[in-house]
Amino acid sequence: MSGKPEKLITDDGLRLDGRRMDEIRPMKIEVGVLSRADGSCYLEWGRNKILVGVYGPREAHPRRMQRPDSAVIRYRYNMAAFSVEDRARPGHSRRSIEISKVSRDAFEPVIMSELYPKAAIDIFVEVLQADAGTRTAAINASSVALADAGIPMKGLVTSCAFGKVDGQVVLDLSKDEDNYGDADFPVALTQDGEITLVQMDGHLTQDEIKKGLELVKKGCSQIFALQQAALRTKFEFPEAEEAEELEEEEAVEAAEAEISEVAAKYAGTTEVEEAAEADEVISESEEEESEESEEEAEAEEESEEEAEESEEESEEETEESEEESEEEAEAEEEFEEEAEAEEESEEEVEAEEESEEETEESEEEAEEEAEAEEESEEESEEEAEAEEESEEESEEEEFEAETEEETEEELEAEGEVEEEEDEIPAEELEEDAEEEAEEEEKSEGPWKVVKDPLDPEAGNGGENDE
Ligand code: CDP
Repeated sequence: MSGKPEKLITDDGLRLDGRRMDEIRPMKIEVGVLSRADGSCYLEWGRNKILVGVYGPREAHPRRMQRPDSAVIRYRYNMAAFSVEDRARPGHSRRSIEISKVSRDAFEPVIMSELYPKAAIDIFVEVLQADAGTRTAAINASSVALADAGIPMKGLVTSCAFGKVDGQVVLDLSKDEDNYGDADFPVALTQDGEITLVQMDGHLTQDEIKKGLELVKKGCSQIFALQQAALRTKFEFPEAEEAEELEEEEAVEAAEAEISEVAAKYAGTTEVEEAAEADEVISESEEEESEESEEEAEAEEESEEEAEESEEESEEETEESEEESEEEAEAEEEFEEEAEAEEESEEEVEAEEESEEETEESEEEAEEEAEAEEESEEESEEEAEAEEESEEESEEEEFEAETEEETEEELEAEGEVEEEEDEIPAEELEEDAEEEAEEEEKSEGPWKVVKDPLDPEAGNGGENDE
């Protein structure tokens, strides 16, 4: 960082960088440098390097930012950390917020925001290198970027600052003039000469301000010419771009023609024919391989079908065996239940016999004791009741025995029926044999069968041969 110079204006009446009092630093403007922005501009002004990208008009987000009657203009000034000698702190700062605010206000009168309600127009400024006057440089670049984006504007905005150095009003302060000067007065003007930005840092008299504003108008007219020239390169000279495109297309067509000529040259050679034959051989072998693979696939499908059929048969067999086993189990259960019922009936019969004996004994005892004691009568009555119950049980047992006998009779009857059924076919066979014999006798008629006495097996054969 250089120290304060003794003089900011030399004895020749020039400034330290050789400029006159009303002269601006050299400026270079490029349009459309960012392909993904709707509009863009790169501007160098002295040692300032500014890059601007414009997006919009587009739907404003967040929605609470939307205006029902016009578009929202958002301006973000950001100084890159490497843009100054001392590393600039990234992010927002009071200075960047202030510059963003006044710069946005500088464009509000010219942008026709009423055409885009609920929309947003974003202007992003990146100061890549700073050397005093970055806000004015950014406004000039933003104006071009807005025009590049096609944002309707009443005119371009141009900005320049004046100040006081060594008691003299000068245009477009340099870094030393800004740091060690007496005043800094940035201004922005429209094409019509309206002032959209005025700031002042330092002390200036009214005459100095008037003089400074005159210098600013002169400087802004020069800057305006540069802006227009930059925009013209894109919008007024599309023929140059079209010529470049035509040249590129012609080059591509020439290359394609050359390739086709080379291909035609080698098309009739033996190498090409051999290559074609080789391709045919390869295709035939591929077809054979494909046929073999198809046969293999069919064999695999058949084997799979056989496996499925065998599985189905095995499943059916298992199901049948399971059903048979279930039927056998049910038959066994029924048989066991019948056996248990028979055992129970036998036990009940025995119990009945025992109870009858007991009742007889109890009756005799009761008769003997009835005469002697009344209590024994009660016991006898109870025993009599028990006897009745036992009799009922015996009756039930008798009924069950009868049912068993009936079932046995039914079973015997079924056996007889089966025997009869077995006998019926034998009788029928005998009857059938007799009928057949009668039919044979009828069929013989006058020509009776002559049995060969030498052929013991010849029963019915050997009919007369007429
Ligand atoms: O850049 P401009 O004149 O619009 O704004 P400024 O606040 O007057 O800053 C004057 C110059 O101080 C800038 O152009 C930078 O070169 C320098 N500066 C710096 O070195 N570090 C900062 N954090 C801010 C400004």
